[in-house]
Amino acid sequence: MKIVSVIGARPQFIKAAAVSRVLRATPGMQEILVHTGQHYDQNMSDIFFRQLAIPEPDYNLEVGSGSHAHQTGMMLKGVEDVLLKEKPDYALVYGDTNSTLAGALAATKLHIPVAHVEAGLRSFNRLMPEEINRIVTDRISDVLFAPTLTAITNLKNEGLEPQTVFSGDVMYDSVLFYREMVVAGGDKYKTDGIPCSYLLATIHRAENTDNPENLKNIFHAFSRIESPIVLPVHPRTARLLKTEINMPANVILIEPVGYLEMLYLTMHAEKVLTDSGGLQKEAYFLGRQCITMRTETEWVETLHDNWNIITGPDPEKIIEAVKSEQPDAPQRQDFGTGKSAEVISHTLMLSDI
Ligand code: UD1
Ligand code: UDP
Repeated sequence: MKIVSVIGARPQFIKAAAVSRVLRATPGMQEILVHTGQHYDQNMSDIFFRQLAIPEPDYNLEVGSGSHAHQTGMMLKGVEDVLLKEKPDYALVYGDTNSTLAGALAATKLHIPVAHVEAGLRSFNRLMPEEINRIVTDRISDVLFAPTLTAITNLKNEGLEPQTVFSGDVMYDSVLFYREMVVAGGDKYKTDGIPCSYLLATIHRAENTDNPENLKNIFHAFSRIESPIVLPVHPRTARLLKTEINMPANVILIEPVGYLEMLYLTMHAEKVLTDSGGLQKEAYFLGRQCITMRTETEWVETLHDNWNIITGPDPEKIIEAVKSEQPDAPQRQDFGTGKSAEVISHTLMLSDI
C-alpha cells in the first residue's frame, strides 16, 4: 500500500514522527512524505526532522508564508502535482493547518481516499482559521482518526460516524516515546539560562497575535506575576513583541526550541501558560497544570480537576489561575494507550484487503 503523507507545520512534524515510524515498520506499506514548506525556519522545521529521526521529505513544496488563500492555493497545486505522479492508495493529513486542508482537498478532487489524523476536534468558534480547516477536512475525508471520545461525538453529530475510527492521540504516543529519551538525557536537553523555578509560556494564536489588545493584556498579566516566565517565541509573535509590547523584566524570551528541549522545559515548569493546542495536552500528560489563554479549548478532557484552566487573555483570570492550587487528582486515560500510530497503520492496511 502506498501512502502520501502531507505535513508542513511544527505540530505536524511531531505527529508524523510517531506515525511515520510505525508506517515504515509495517510490511507492505510505503510512505512518501511531502513537506509543504509552511514552516521553514531551521528551528521551526529542520530541527524536528533531525531530532525525531523523521525521514527526509521526498518532496518539499517550499510554499512559505502568505495570506490564507495564497498559501493554501500554492499548496493545492504542489500537492496535486505530487499525487498525480505518485498515484497513492491514500493521502494522510494531520491536524488543522492550511497544509491539512490543501492535502485533503487536492487528494479528494483526484478521487484519492483521504485519512485525517486528529479528526473531530471542534472549538465551535468559526473565527479560528483552524476550525474552518477541520470542518472541511473532516467532511471530505474517507477515514477519520478520532483522538478522543469527544471527537467521536462531534463527528457523530455531523453525521460522520460511519467513517470514524477511535485511534487515540498520536501526540500522546510521541510524549510517551520521547519522554524516556529526555529523562535518560539528564540535563542534556536543558536550555541555557533557564532558572530553577519558572512558568513556561507560548503564544501564537491569531486571536492573540492579530489583536494587539489581547497581546497587551497577556503581557500585562505577566508583569504582575512574580515568577520568571520562560517564553520560546513563535516567529509569528516575534515581530509584534518588538513593536507592541513593553517587555516585563520577569519574562525570559528564547528562540523556539526543539521538541526534546520543549518536553524538558514542560516537565520542569511550575505551570504552563499557552494558547497552543499541542502544549495543553503535553502539560496534562506530563502532570503540569495548564492555563489556556484562549476563550475555549477543543481538548475538554484536560479540564477536569483544574488540570487546565481557561482564562482567555483576561489579566485577572490569568493571575488568579497562576495562584490557584496545583491539582492533586490523577490524570485520566482519555487519549488512548500510546499506540495510536499502530491503530492508524492497521486500519489503513485492512482497508486495502
Ligand atoms: C500555523 C497554523 C496553526 C498552528 C501553527 C503551529 C494555519 C492556519 N495555522 O500557524 O494552526 O497552530 O502553525 O505553530 O495553518 N513564520 C516564520 N518562519 C516560519 C514559519 C512562519 O517567520 O518558519 C512567520 C511568518 O511571518 C508567517 C507567520 O509566522 O507569516 C505565520 O505562519 P503561518 O504558518 O502562516 O501560521 P502560524 O501562525 O505558524
Ligand atoms: N514546541 C516545540 N518548541 C517550541 C514550542 C513548541 O517543540 O519552541 C512543540 C510543543 O511541545 C508541541 C508543538 O510544538 O508539541 C505545538 O506546536 P504549536 O504550539 O506551534 O501548534 P499547535 O499545537 O497550537 O497547533
